Amino acid sequence: MIIAVDGPAAAGKGTLARNLARHFGLAYLDTGALYRAVGLAVLESGGDPHDPETATSAAKQLGFDLFDHPDLRNEATGEAASAVAAIPAVREALLSFQRTFAENPPGERGGAVLDGRDIGTVVCPETPFKIFLVADPAVRAERRVKELRNRGVEAISAEILRDMEHRDAQDKSRTISPLVPARDAFVLDTTELDADAVFAAAVDFVNAKNGMN
Ligand code: CDP
Repeated sequence: MIIAVDGPAAAGKGTLARNLARHFGLAYLDTGALYRAVGLAVLESGGDPHDPETATSAAKQLGFDLFDHPDLRNEATGEAASAVAAIPAVREALLSFQRTFAENPPGERGGAVLDGRDIGTVVCPETPFKIFLVADPAVRAERRVKELRNRGVEAISAEILRDMEHRDAQDKSRTISPLVPARDAFVLDTTELDADAVFAAAVDFVNAKNGMN
């Protein structure tokens, strides 16, 4: 079983994906962390995340050392991630890792949950279990501010909202793997839902699909 969870920034993908993985006994991969690590590697080396050569070489050399970096979840890293993510060779370099994880998940699990932007459209288009989360931008910005503050990072709502909307626009308008729901995705608006309600709706969807297959 492969479950794809896609959607814009701070729509609740990570929380839902982790909950689904626990519930169904599946492995979990946060694919955004891969793009963030590439973006951060470029920033750390003083390079330009928009430069295809620099970004591609960072993607090809990606190790696991940056995944615990304190700056991985910052908005500046998110912006760098979005810049490198628009470069075809970067996406190509990260694709086989994601597909291998989905098809042969670690720990002998019976499947995997992947969250990102293009899991349902590009990475695992064959899976019937595709969820696309959306939410009002102001609500998403508030959630991100709370998440950052919980980690001790001070954040200004208006700035987070502006940065997030810029990143979403960039992710939607890129020519390769743009942020768009797959045609057969279950689109769930989480604006007025808490994490438990989102989880319950997603489990219902997965179980209903399972019954149909
Ligand atoms: O945490 P948040 O939802 O804000 O972002 P993320 O999932 O960590 O992803 C950071 C950036 O990586 C996104 O803005 C996308 O540009 C890019 N990304 C992507 O292009 N494809 C994916 N499958 C996952 C992330």
